[in-house]
Amino acid sequence: MCGIFAYLNYNVHRDRRFILQVLFNGLRRLEYRGYDSAGISVDSSPFYSQFNSDLNNAHSVPPPSPLVFRQAGNIDSLVKSVHSEVETINLNLEEQFSVHAGIAHTRWATHGEPAPRNSHPQTSGPENEFLVVHNGIVTNYEVLKETLVRHGFVFESDTDTEVIPKLAKFIFDNATEGGQAVTFSQVVLEVMRHLEGAYALIFKSRHYPNELIACKRGSPLILGVKDLAEPACNGSAAFNDDKFLSKNGHPKELFLSSDANAVVEHTKKALVIEDGEVVHIKDGAVSILKFDKEKGKSCGSLSRPASVQRALSILEMEVEQINKGNYEHYMQKEIHEQPESLTTTMRGRLIRRTSSKDKTLLLGGLKDHLKTIRRSRRIVFVGCGTSYNAALAARPILEELSGVPVTMEIASDLLDRQGPIYREDTAVFVSQSGETADTLHALEYALENGALCTGITNTVGSAIARNTHCGIHINAGAEIGVASTKAYTSQIVVMVMMALAIGGDSISHQRRREAIIDGLFDLPNKVREVLKLDQEMKDLAELLIAEQSLLVFGRGYNYATALEGALKVKEVALMHSEGLLAGEMKHGPLALVDENLPIVVIATRDACFSKQQSVIQQLHARKGRLIVMCSKGDAQSVCPGDSCRVIEVPHVEDCLQPVINIIPLQLLAYHLTVLRGYNCDQPRNLAKSVTTE
Ligand code: M6R
Repeated sequence: MCGIFAYLNYNVHRDRRFILQVLFNGLRRLEYRGYDSAGISVDSSPFYSQFNSDLNNAHSVPPPSPLVFRQAGNIDSLVKSVHSEVETINLNLEEQFSVHAGIAHTRWATHGEPAPRNSHPQTSGPENEFLVVHNGIVTNYEVLKETLVRHGFVFESDTDTEVIPKLAKFIFDNATEGGQAVTFSQVVLEVMRHLEGAYALIFKSRHYPNELIACKRGSPLILGVKDLAEPACNGSAAFNDDKFLSKNGHPKELFLSSDANAVVEHTKKALVIEDGEVVHIKDGAVSILKFDKEKGKSCGSLSRPASVQRALSILEMEVEQINKGNYEHYMQKEIHEQPESLTTTMRGRLIRRTSSKDKTLLLGGLKDHLKTIRRSRRIVFVGCGTSYNAALAARPILEELSGVPVTMEIASDLLDRQGPIYREDTAVFVSQSGETADTLHALEYALENGALCTGITNTVGSAIARNTHCGIHINAGAEIGVASTKAYTSQIVVMVMMALAIGGDSISHQRRREAIIDGLFDLPNKVREVLKLDQEMKDLAELLIAEQSLLVFGRGYNYATALEGALKVKEVALMHSEGLLAGEMKHGPLALVDENLPIVVIATRDACFSKQQSVIQQLHARKGRLIVMCSKGDAQSVCPGDSCRVIEVPHVEDCLQPVINIIPLQLLAYHLTVLRGYNCDQPRNLAKSVTTE
């Protein structure tokens, strides 16, 4: 979905070329979220004014209008168009700015086609008095637009966002015409009072040069602070420290972004901005105000809320995580780093003492709630897409070890039905990004209904991590490819550990428990082994390159594998693919079977093995074109006499088998995509974090 980024340098000389580079680079880091157009705004000339803090003077000598560049297509097209425009208007790229505020945006179209006029920054009008980049949706934009049109504003885009800068201008003009001195944050707070929906916004204004305002409700936003006068940071620092708030001239660089990825290469000191907070950057200082819709209403004039204190934290992320390293694509890298991501997921949670046979499992984020979860009337898993599939893969082991009924909910469907959620329920929200709008809304719904809410997410500080009562981070590392791969396997492992924790030490499960724990310890090795199928999956992809359709049959633990394998093929290789419950084969899908349609059947050794063997026979009887995934050594028994193609995978404990089995299908999806000439990291029409419903 849309990505927003801003860069403000204070008391440090940066030329225009450098500033543009930082903005473009920020946008490239947000590319993976999915986008179809992009834009930036920078100043047309430096503005250093002793008047800057004197509003009356600043208004009498208006600073030059900021420049806006917008383009449909990818970042490279934006870069090209900026450079050609820079030449046309003879803009000096070497011009120095000791203070400058630039904003940037990647847009994923919701209102209006991808086109320069619909791209952001959106503007208040020809003079670019107020400019806004926006992630989210303003739901009441039509009403606001009608009012603004009545006041003479002319709209040029189809976006919901355009009402925001125009509303800012309207508020600013009204206040200043009446002779009232008004600060940038007062204007923005008043704008926020009128907005409904979800948003993260950054404002830049000609009237407040070298200042930026960011605010949010619902969509993610983080602030990164690089204090250039300070040695490397070794802890957290409060914003009300002299270093950050006072106007003592500390040279700094400040970054605002929808995503930590765009910040971490500059600084690890960051602040996750909370809903309702308004961050005002002025004269190198940061103040954070708390927006209160109700309080604002009661004030006759523009309100001045008190500032709040927040502490910076350190991003636990390495720059290498957001680079491709030696791989060609992020998806490829993320598939191949699963032995390491799984190790990190288990680190510090599964402990085996070398001196004894003792194995300990510790889930810090859950331990205080285990009793309540065990007493729940049911456990409800809620998620979307891959996260839903991961929960489905873990459901049987959770039922087995906990004895608590486990139900599954696709977040949007739960909301559509307003399905029953009770106080006695434990609702588990599974989300890689922790920001998926449907899952977040389902969480709000479950909280309202009094359920114990648990989060399983890969993103520390995300909305789901912050708003659940307890939870577990999957610690898989940054996942940049839109197709979720390593997060899926880490989610399953986390939920298996959760099942072990909820199941406790009951004697009846002791053997099973030990076998699973041993299996978990050995899992990264088994994943390394299955990754060796890479070339084999590439060969298979070559065979399937021109197919229209692919079916994947699974059951038991591997029904989820069938759904997830098909989802991967569909989303990146743009090939129709369907995951099916093998038990349902005779109730409809069998009609599709002929000698042409490729069908993957997952038949690894578990309690469903003999049933899958009979499925294979029935498909054979209809001359089905089969690709069977089986446990090592079973090739002849599942496909006698080379009657089909076989993918042999290492055998592990049944509840961990989905982690192994999905990997050949991830590789197949990846190679199919590359061979078919599609972009696996940013598939058509898709976004990494789906922050709109
Ligand atoms: O961030 P989330 O896990 O909540 O995202 C949910 C889905 O949007 C996501 O898994 C989607 O299905 C992936 N693109 C699949 O690869």
